[in-house]
Amino acid sequence: MSVQEQINKIIKNFQKINMQDFVQISNFEKKLGFYNKEEENKIGVKGHFITSPEISSIFGMAMCNQFINKNPKATKVHLLELGPGNGHLTNDILEQMHGHKIEVLSITLLEKSEYFKKKQIKKFSKIENFSIISDIDEFHKNKDDLVFVYSNEFLDTFGHKQYMYRNNNFYEVFITIKKSQHLLTLESSIQSEYIKKDYKYLDFKDGDILEHSPLIDFFIGSLNRNIKKYFFTTCDYGYTNYSKKSTLRALRDHKKIALFEFFEGVDYSFSVDFNRLTKLFEPNESEIQSQSSFIKKYAPNFFNNKTSDEIDIIKNLLTGTKENEMGLIFKNFNSRNYD
Ligand SMILES: C[S@@+](CC[C@H](N)C(=O)[O-])C[C@H]1O[C@@H](n2cnc3c(N)ncnc32)[C@H](O)[C@@H]1O
Repeated sequence: MSVQEQINKIIKNFQKINMQDFVQISNFEKKLGFYNKEEENKIGVKGHFITSPEISSIFGMAMCNQFINKNPKATKVHLLELGPGNGHLTNDILEQMHGHKIEVLSITLLEKSEYFKKKQIKKFSKIENFSIISDIDEFHKNKDDLVFVYSNEFLDTFGHKQYMYRNNNFYEVFITIKKSQHLLTLESSIQSEYIKKDYKYLDFKDGDILEHSPLIDFFIGSLNRNIKKYFFTTCDYGYTNYSKKSTLRALRDHKKIALFEFFEGVDYSFSVDFNRLTKLFEPNESEIQSQSSFIKKYAPNFFNNKTSDEIDIIKNLLTGTKENEMGLIFKNFNSRNYD
């Protein structure tokens, strides 16, 4: 069944589908969802979009240097990458760990896409103590062992629910079909009081949009329950100032497209709410910085060396501030759960 047929079937049965489920089905439908559909390239220059680890190994070097800076006594570590895609980041981090003589006890990739699992097995299966898991609840290590948990553009693929504020209440945004057209509709929500309480530090006005991902809340809760000693770092598209607008993006072949323009081969993502993430990691302390500051701090040699045109392009893509560059719109978030 195509993505569109599945979505239409749900709308036929329930008269509507919420944004979170719409995005999860579009991204992860077993055969034809964006992340599972068979195709030559998904991420990279020849794919639908490009990511920092695909641009340069400098990104992995910065993540590894940050780990060493924050965990100066570490001599052994378990690696856990969340949503590795083609697996470049783990490859780069592994190389850096060897260079710094830090023993890697095991490598685990948390991956939901069958398409990417096949690529990862091809790349890493010869490595000892390598495994792929589909659920964070499958990850178990000794409570005293340090786990380095890292990711890039992982949380922005999680579906979010969207609500609109009106007359002192939140109404949930749903998708429905009228006269064969997909369109957005609002319905009063039983979660309105809970959301008002949880986001009361924000001053919502009529027409403002609130995005909330129960899936992210649940995921970070499971991570905290399952891993006793970790250093967590992630880079993602996101904000610390709440825009109160929809951040849903639909991408196809490197281009932004309109909602419902296509149903197949579309990558949907939301911007990550880094303040919410900070709250989810409490009582642990967290740090948020722009990707630009993160890379300049943890890969300084790359910036101080004389540059070629090619290196200048890489620098600009990773740390620049223009619309198609990742420096300010991407942020690094890190936290650890031990002293
Ligand atoms: C935007 S891609 C980023 C891939 C890679 N980190 C990079 O930077 O090139 C998102 C990745 O996260 C995976 N993913 C998304 N949600 C997931 C979940 N809940 N559990 C496991 N993997 C997930 C996708 O299958 C994909 O590999």
